Amino acid sequence: MQISHAIVRPPPENFSQGITSSGLGKPDYNLALKQHQEYCEALKNSGVNLTVLKQDPEFPDSCFVEDTAVVNERCAVITRPGDKRRRGEEIKIKQVLSSYRKLESIQKPGTVDGGDVLRIHNTYFIGLSQRTNQEGAQQLKEKLMKYSYGSEFIPVRDMLHLKSGVNYLDRDVVVIRKELSSLRFFTSFRKITVSPQEAYAANCIFVNGTVLMPSNFPETLRKIKSQGFEVIELQMSEFEKMDGGVSCLSIRF
Ligand code: GLY
Repeated sequence: MQISHAIVRPPPENFSQGITSSGLGKPDYNLALKQHQEYCEALKNSGVNLTVLKQDPEFPDSCFVEDTAVVNERCAVITRPGDKRRRGEEIKIKQVLSSYRKLESIQKPGTVDGGDVLRIHNTYFIGLSQRTNQEGAQQLKEKLMKYSYGSEFIPVRDMLHLKSGVNYLDRDVVVIRKELSSLRFFTSFRKITVSPQEAYAANCIFVNGTVLMPSNFPETLRKIKSQGFEVIELQMSEFEKMDGGVSCLSIRF
């Protein structure tokens, strides 16, 4: 599926005050900005038009825009983020997306983080996690059904979001953490299984023919390349410290 557009938002100065359980230490802000810039360049070089939003220090996690909306060819569902500290990030995103798509919204008491929502063809796999509750997942399923998309719910444990553990590339290939690889949902896909030492590398995206993945994961890199994919590696260390990855830094459509 061709991606023509992406929304990104650089991290604000107080990025280090965001939510994290990584235990990897405080991010270096200037390095995070540089890594974000390189991420934006990689998207542009893959043929994507970028909307770059102004930084928002009211929300230290606001660079992780993917959590605020689920966008496809037919609609945009504005989420209600699962952690209260992030509620409100979606307001600006809603304004921007209103120029592109018909809007739907997740309502209280439902919660959904976009990081839990994985699209493969016309099916959405929705992670039930600490951020996405049953009510939110059900609302999302019903909204997507109106536009002829199917949904399946997947319980998520021991990771922040579903897409911390599994992502779809192309040609029926998923990159998937070992602990998810036996789930019935993914039996029909070809799997690139990510070892526990390289778990963070499961968060990668396929953009217009190229895989964007975090650097320093040689085994996963080799496996992805061996399936014939072009790869751009990106330094993501400062976002990893804040529990963020390649996928959550943009809304792509
Ligand atoms: N820091 C990303 C999140 O926890 O939502």
